Amino acid sequence: MADSHSRRAALKALGLVSLGTTLGGTAFGKTVDRTYHLAPAAPVAPQLSKTITAIVCGAGNRGNVYGNYAAEYPTQLDIVGVAEPIPLRNDRFAKKHNIDDQHRFVTWEDVFKQPKFADAVIITTPDNLHYGPAMAALAMGYDLLLEKPIAQRWQECQDILNLAEKNNRIVAVCHVLRYSPYYRKVKAVIDSGVLGELVSLQHFEPIQHVHMSHSYVRGNWRREADTNPIILAKSCHDLDIMRWWIGQPCEYVSSFGSLKWFKAENAPPGSTLRCTDGCAVEATCPYSAKKIYYEKRTWLHHFDLPEAEPARGEAILKNITEGPYGRCVYHCDNDVPDHQVVSLQFANQITANFNMEAFTHYQGRRTRIMGSMGDVVGDETDLLVTDFRTGEQEKWNVHEHAALDSGHGGGDWGLVRDWLQAVDQQDAALLTSTLATSMESHRIGFLAEQSRHNRTVEKV
Ligand SMILES: NC(=O)c1ccc[n+]([C@@H]2O[C@H](COP(=O)([O-])OP(=O)(O)OC[C@H]3O[C@@H](n4cnc5c(N)ncnc54)[C@H](O)[C@@H]3O)[C@@H](O)[C@H]2O)c1
Repeated sequence: MADSHSRRAALKALGLVSLGTTLGGTAFGKTVDRTYHLAPAAPVAPQLSKTITAIVCGAGNRGNVYGNYAAEYPTQLDIVGVAEPIPLRNDRFAKKHNIDDQHRFVTWEDVFKQPKFADAVIITTPDNLHYGPAMAALAMGYDLLLEKPIAQRWQECQDILNLAEKNNRIVAVCHVLRYSPYYRKVKAVIDSGVLGELVSLQHFEPIQHVHMSHSYVRGNWRREADTNPIILAKSCHDLDIMRWWIGQPCEYVSSFGSLKWFKAENAPPGSTLRCTDGCAVEATCPYSAKKIYYEKRTWLHHFDLPEAEPARGEAILKNITEGPYGRCVYHCDNDVPDHQVVSLQFANQITANFNMEAFTHYQGRRTRIMGSMGDVVGDETDLLVTDFRTGEQEKWNVHEHAALDSGHGGGDWGLVRDWLQAVDQQDAALLTSTLATSMESHRIGFLAEQSRHNRTVEKV
């Protein structure tokens, strides 16, 4: 049911549902729906019966991504409460959304000590603080927009699902790629039948070395116990998208990977605990915090900088002198792998391989999909679809099809748009990333981790 819905939703997103007809012919006994050639329709604003009200738990980076949708489309979404322990973030967020003092809280627990005062809760707290607010919100009858990963343990994911089903709540998991035009286009191509029988898929996530150092060596997601294994923290998107594209259950999974580079034994001679401590190799180190944050002013979205430009430089220097982002990448307390491979066997003899890599100069997931009658080559920007029967090739570029101007190729706000409609109509079928659908990719992630640690092949 999820898959037929996914297909319907993908076609709907591409503006193809109303056409409804098969334009292509048949070849080798399989009908090809050539409507996949058509350009996606421009996004339509949701037709809501009322403005949906929501409380944000965690006004950091992601809380602001979804909050900014409300700022842009105030008749659709109104943020009426916030829980955030960092005073500056709480102040800025409350001011931006005009939140009453009585609905500003230091921590998520306080929200649920009040009677229910909104339609929904947006959970954008750190990974280890998803389970608590999700369970409390569902118990009080709130609908949820829940950041991925769902929770830190499989049992916790199941608890959340059980409570959501028991209380009949709408829960969207923020698998934002499902809402971006590129990923939907790939889904439409696969579902059209132009590739014939799906045979195998290769999917590669190049994290990019500086991104790796920022998030998974120095930053918030560096320690498995505090957050999640990187295969979930970073790559549950990929496992989810592979499962969605393939449209078949995963049967077996195995995985290898480790933390090979970012550890003390690889620290160059003369390096110091901080880049600002007179490190002898700072000038040539690709991970110099001085270069990344101060000189280039990149990767600053977790820095809480002053709004006025002149004070920013000083704040960055203070941060890299005292805070986590100035630490030497070889002397952090990180433990998550910097490279991991996952092999997957899906039903119908479909195989897939996933690689997550830190050491690239580029970002942008690369995918190759092989079918009996055609193949797809894509890099999140350009897509090339080849039909072996006709030799015909279609080139597609995401910039010509940008839907909503937001992160993840428009997926961030695409998700909010669909979630608002689902909440308004109390119809989870308007979402592709429901909680129930998202469980399988999380299961695969937890089992991949088990396989990596135990050197086993796990049955899903
Ligand atoms: N969907 C995606 O593509 C995507 C991308 C990045 C991060 N994420 C996920 O989103 C979540 C948030 O990530 P982020 O980058 O916004 O991190 P962040 O650190 O910028 O934001 C988290 C916020 O939660 C606040 N917080 C901490 N304890 C709290 C408490 N007890 N009550 C209320 N708030 C509390 C923190 O102070 C912080 O401001 C994480 O689970 C992360 O894995 C998802």
